[in-house]
Amino acid sequence: MSIPRIASLQQQSISEPPPPPLYIITPTYRRPEQLAELTRLGYTLKHVVNLYWLVIEDAEEPTPQVTKLLQKINVPFSHLVAQMPAKYRKNKVKPRGVSNRNRGLEWIRANASDGVLYFADDDNTYDVEIFDEMRYTKKVSMWPVGLITKFGVSSPIVKNGTVVGFYDGWIGGRKYPVDMASFSVSVRFLLSRPNASMPYKPGYEEDGFLKSLSPLKLTEIELLASNCTEILVWHTQSKKNPNAMSLDMGKYNNTNLVHLRNILV
Ligand SMILES: *[C@@H]1O[C@H](CO)[C@@H](O)[C@H](O)[C@H]1NC(C)=O
Repeated sequence: MSIPRIASLQQQSISEPPPPPLYIITPTYRRPEQLAELTRLGYTLKHVVNLYWLVIEDAEEPTPQVTKLLQKINVPFSHLVAQMPAKYRKNKVKPRGVSNRNRGLEWIRANASDGVLYFADDDNTYDVEIFDEMRYTKKVSMWPVGLITKFGVSSPIVKNGTVVGFYDGWIGGRKYPVDMASFSVSVRFLLSRPNASMPYKPGYEEDGFLKSLSPLKLTEIELLASNCTEILVWHTQSKKNPNAMSLDMGKYNNTNLVHLRNILV
């Protein structure tokens, strides 16, 4: 029984067109956790077909250790850079990741014509199911994200299959009080909104971007994760690590530790 079944499945996968492409925008910056987080995310993305990973560093030049890691993981990728404008760098609360995500949007406008985009920060945990659900987004899809504020989750409030509000520990006057990892956008829909971009406004990046996609009705938002009853994305974060001490070269020159220290921040 099993042999004909496998044969017919193989035939099906050859003749069926590939699913719509996913464009994953990951802003990142050099810090002790960077390589660890990108390793975890990259090997998650490796389980997803027809995916293109835009890794965008807030840096002057791409970090060679990051390029090397991306080549090794071998998910189709572009490694770009986009620095935070100097005028924001002296702010106490910095609009982190905005220049990177806007660079990703610019890349998509220049290179993509269909499929779906998603902002996947490197400090989250993703159930691969969410990628196959978001792939068919017509305009904007949303779903819950776990480990957000003392509420434990940030989610659209769903009644009879439509959004009636948002559950989030910090509303802050936002129209869309949602997390960056809680929504995807169709590329065609983005292209139909030539001015859509993310504002340099800490705390209001998601809200500003989603508002820049207007007109968009709450009733048009597509609800994933079984009408927002499942948690498929978690805002894990990792503990902040101190920078590694410099190496005593008098003591350790000509040892493996020199190589290790070059990997670390
Ligand atoms: C979501 O809710 C709507 C309305 O109640 C229902 O028609 C639909 O089947 C539900 N979808 C899922 C995946 O549960």
